[in-house]
Amino acid sequence: MRILVTGGAGYIGSVVVERLLGAGHDAVVYDNLSQGHREAVLPGAEFIQGEILDRPAVEGVLRKHKIEGVIHMAASALVGESCENPAKYYSNNLITSLTLLEAMRATGVSRLVLSSTAAVYGEPEKPLIEESDPTRPTNPYGETKLSFERACRWYEQAYGLRFVSLRYFNAAGATKLCGEFHNPETHLIPIILQVAAGQRPHVEIFGDDYPTTDGTCIRDYIHVSDLAHAHVLALDYLKRSSGIFNLGCGGGRSVKEVIAAARKVTGREIAVRVGPRRPGDPAVLVASSEKIKKEMGWVPEKQDLEIIVASAWEWMQKKAVVSPAR
Ligand code: UFG
Repeated sequence: MRILVTGGAGYIGSVVVERLLGAGHDAVVYDNLSQGHREAVLPGAEFIQGEILDRPAVEGVLRKHKIEGVIHMAASALVGESCENPAKYYSNNLITSLTLLEAMRATGVSRLVLSSTAAVYGEPEKPLIEESDPTRPTNPYGETKLSFERACRWYEQAYGLRFVSLRYFNAAGATKLCGEFHNPETHLIPIILQVAAGQRPHVEIFGDDYPTTDGTCIRDYIHVSDLAHAHVLALDYLKRSSGIFNLGCGGGRSVKEVIAAARKVTGREIAVRVGPRRPGDPAVLVASSEKIKKEMGWVPEKQDLEIIVASAWEWMQKKAVVSPAR
């Protein structure tokens, strides 16, 4: 299929493009490069720099490239920032996404895979979150993603949109070709590895007084390559139905456990300080991924936390050799 990938120059987007090309699809990346990187777009994909809010431009791309489906990943995705600046999240995650839907409707493109998030659930009521559990976001990031999922449901009913929403848990790790590079970096694993590499003095643990076994937050880390694979499966699923799916591995790891894994992988000391909690952070977010396994046949291949951390470490070192200035 010919797929438009919004946000395809970003961390997860670049790996999704890698998997799409590997599966024989054509990928057209549409990205404004506000967070993504031109060099993250693999040579096999076409690249167009543009804004989703420029609806005529999006419609032009959908028509010109005879796009058959859209994977919509362009978004702002930081929990903490969303609490400080909700306006940015309503604009970047909701207004843009609705504009995209309208462009799709105007051009007759009816298949959409969208990046959603575990943050739609808020504080979960049970250890493994299922898709049917209550959605009560504790931050504007989750709220705006949930609002767009809901819009998709109504568009499905009224206009025949087919959509798969993938509620990502914590994407991490790298492939040989693509990996994580945010500026500024806020995510746990790259920050820990920057400390290991001597680029930062210490990792700050955001709170060690949570009601968890060691007091630090628990998250479900999923290798970005496994996460990307789900998008390829979702395109196939769209031929049959719409649906909402969790995308995590079902194994919760605490912040302290991630730091311990990184010490083992890198063989380096990683200095730690404990700071206050970060606003909007739920204590535990772990997926039940039974639904996607059952309905799409998705199976994670790289569940081991050390393998995930090692792939990120390898990527970081390779990147330092290739582009020492960054
Ligand atoms: N953390 C620290 N110190 C840091 C950075 C993070 O202690 O310097 C902690 C956070 O408080 C959290 C955990 O490490 O408990 C993971 O934090 P990340 O920032 O790496 O990831 P988040 O869990 O905040 O967010 C990620 C994605 C979101 C998604 C969410 C769903 O970035 O898009 O997972 O779980 F919504």
